[in-house]
Amino acid sequence: MFFIHPTTAILSSVVTLAEAAPYLIQQDYAAYTLEQHAVWAELVSRRMPQLHEHAAQEYLDGSEYIGLKHDQLPNLSEISSRLEPRTGWNTTPVSGFMPGPAFFEMLAARKFPTTTWLRSRESLEYTPEPDIFHDVFGHVPMHAHPVFADFLQHYGQLCAAQTDEAMLERIGRIFWYTVEFGLIRQGGKIKVYGSGLISSNGECTNVINGGCAIRDFDIDEVLRTPVKVDEMHKLLFAIDSFEQIYEALRVTEERIEEGTLLD
Ligand SMILES: [Fe+2]
Repeated sequence: MFFIHPTTAILSSVVTLAEAAPYLIQQDYAAYTLEQHAVWAELVSRRMPQLHEHAAQEYLDGSEYIGLKHDQLPNLSEISSRLEPRTGWNTTPVSGFMPGPAFFEMLAARKFPTTTWLRSRESLEYTPEPDIFHDVFGHVPMHAHPVFADFLQHYGQLCAAQTDEAMLERIGRIFWYTVEFGLIRQGGKIKVYGSGLISSNGECTNVINGGCAIRDFDIDEVLRTPVKVDEMHKLLFAIDSFEQIYEALRVTEERIEEGTLLD
């Protein structure tokens, strides 16, 4: 029989998250007000009609799987207790913006850094920094998909091993055009799975209404396309399956090892 002493387990998790440790917090669920739960419900009810029609099936299945509630803010430990047995991912509360090494270290450990604050009713459409609606409603349902789950961990491992800023910026384009603004072809239609599209009515409507060119996901083109954060997208990329983005990471890793990624 194998037994890990609890202290050993705690110590090993602290060692694993050396960079991220200062940012880890507890979610004080009881402190959320009725108004905050009402704002959450309003945000969800504004997004769901469009998502039922235009979100990837894997996103919709994932939101059911994790037990996302439409009328109450999510309890992160309850979500993790559903997610962990399926893909090993944990939805881990953090204090806010994290530097790259801490962020990548958490992804590599299958812990998704999740903010706990919620935007106010005055800024339902936009927040300059991610809040719990973007992080949980936008991101976490996809963590229930086994291939996406492996892809995200692998991305974290790849970035955690890099120190060169130009290299990280280039690899970051993969994250942007998949995890944040990814599209997938399903049933002859374009569906959204990136959290920036899932959680934003404006960005999603821009794609649906043809405001944005959509090309087949091609790792060379993705790596050549810089990220612009201050305007609606004019170009995004559609995959055919999540295996495709996992394979794209493998190709990227090979190029890093060959020293050809920035060529
Ligand atoms: Fe995000």
